[in-house]
Amino acid sequence: MKIGATLNYTPLDHAARWFGRFLPKGLYARALIIIIAPVILLQSVVAYVFMERHYELVTRRLSSAVTADIAALIDIYESYPQDRNTTTLSRIASERLQLDVDILRNTDLPPPGPKPFFDILDETLSNELRRQIDRPYWIDTVGRSSYVEVRVKLDQNDVMRILARRSQAYASNSHIFLVWMGGSSFVLLGIAILFLRNQIRPILRLAEAAEALGKGREIDFRPRGAREVRQAGHAFLEMKRRIERNMEQRTTMLNGVSHDLRTILTRFKLSLVFLDQTPEVEDLKRDVDEMSRMLEGYLAFARGEGGDAGEQAIATDLRQLLEEVQSDAERQGHVTELDIVGDPIITVRPDAFRRLLFNLVGNAARHGDRIEITANHETRWLVLHVDDDGPGIPPEMREEVFKPFVRLDEARNQDEGGSGLGLAIARDVARSHGGDIVLGESPLGGLRATVRLPA
Ligand SMILES: Nc1ncnc2c1ncn2[C@@H]1O[C@H](COP(=O)(O)OP(=O)(O)OP(=O)(O)O)[C@@H](O)[C@H]1O
Ligand SMILES: [Mg+2]
Repeated sequence: MKIGATLNYTPLDHAARWFGRFLPKGLYARALIIIIAPVILLQSVVAYVFMERHYELVTRRLSSAVTADIAALIDIYESYPQDRNTTTLSRIASERLQLDVDILRNTDLPPPGPKPFFDILDETLSNELRRQIDRPYWIDTVGRSSYVEVRVKLDQNDVMRILARRSQAYASNSHIFLVWMGGSSFVLLGIAILFLRNQIRPILRLAEAAEALGKGREIDFRPRGAREVRQAGHAFLEMKRRIERNMEQRTTMLNGVSHDLRTILTRFKLSLVFLDQTPEVEDLKRDVDEMSRMLEGYLAFARGEGGDAGEQAIATDLRQLLEEVQSDAERQGHVTELDIVGDPIITVRPDAFRRLLFNLVGNAARHGDRIEITANHETRWLVLHVDDDGPGIPPEMREEVFKPFVRLDEARNQDEGGSGLGLAIARDVARSHGGDIVLGESPLGGLRATVRLPA
């Protein structure tokens, strides 16, 4: 089913995945994009259409009208040569057409000024002048800010100079529209961000609560927010209650079982004491001892020892703990070296962590002669190696031995052995602290167990 699904990917799916890699991962950021992207798109389209249609068109019409006026003035000037000092012409131009007209005698056009890089006014006005008047002209749309100057060469050596208001030839206030559009969408986005934040906070709270439950921490959580989020929150609380009920039942049952079995084993031991101490009875005693040891081990594991035994993490002296472990191993006749670098104070659950250490060092002691313990706590992470010079574990078995009840010793014909729970419990402890244990090769030739946890 899964393979079929992967085979059925269309190019579109691939494109979507590729694109997805560049998207932000957070819900908040994604939701924002969902809102912002259409707004930007819409605005760009509107702005483009507006510029293209309205802005250009209006400017062209306005320029065309001004040019037509100028053409008419030139026509009048040339058709009625009796008005040589142009007073009438100037009056008509300024009163009726709002243009300021002058005739400059015996001059030529100035050299063309610098063209503005992109100016719709310059362009359209030039086009219109060429189209409607078709004489040499000179325009200045850059110089004075609110006026546009046009000079047209007349028949004699005269030049007509026209000053028009810029707004007469140009849709000059149009950018206000864009400013309004941009401004209002900023306001809308601000409101959207505020609302979104309130919608996403309950989801984050739920995620935090779920994470805390996984780590066995207690946090105060009440479902809030939109209906679906609240629904998920209630489902989470219900699940939490069910898990807690289950754990309670398990603990009660385990306590009952261990109590009953311990009672019987104790009776057994007592009876053995009263028998004649023959070799058979000695054997029986050893078996009973081993049985009670194993029973304790199973029960400890089943209780989730190291995990949620209700112990609190406190500041603990690593040196003291390790020296305890060291002297224990030395008493069993093992050369044990200890090396601690960095801060010896760590924050762990002391009983669980001691069990982890004893399990690892106990394994090293069982399989090797020399033991080396090195701890490094220079950063926020504690890194601890337990090395021995025993036979080690082949790479393909290094994950396997963490499983409960898995032992290699049976194959190696070592009958004095444990229950195969030591590593499982140790890893449980490390993981409940937010760390882990991995196995590898030791420089001493045997096994190296590496514990890494934030402490
Ligand atoms: N230091 C080591 N060197 C070689 N083999 C090891 C070492 N530590 C563990 N093992 C192998 O991994 C297996 C699992 O170890 P684990 O500690 O889980 O169980 P155990 O030691 O057999 O029993 P328990 O620890 O419960 O008394 C062991 O049976 C042993 O074969
Ligand atoms: Mg062990």
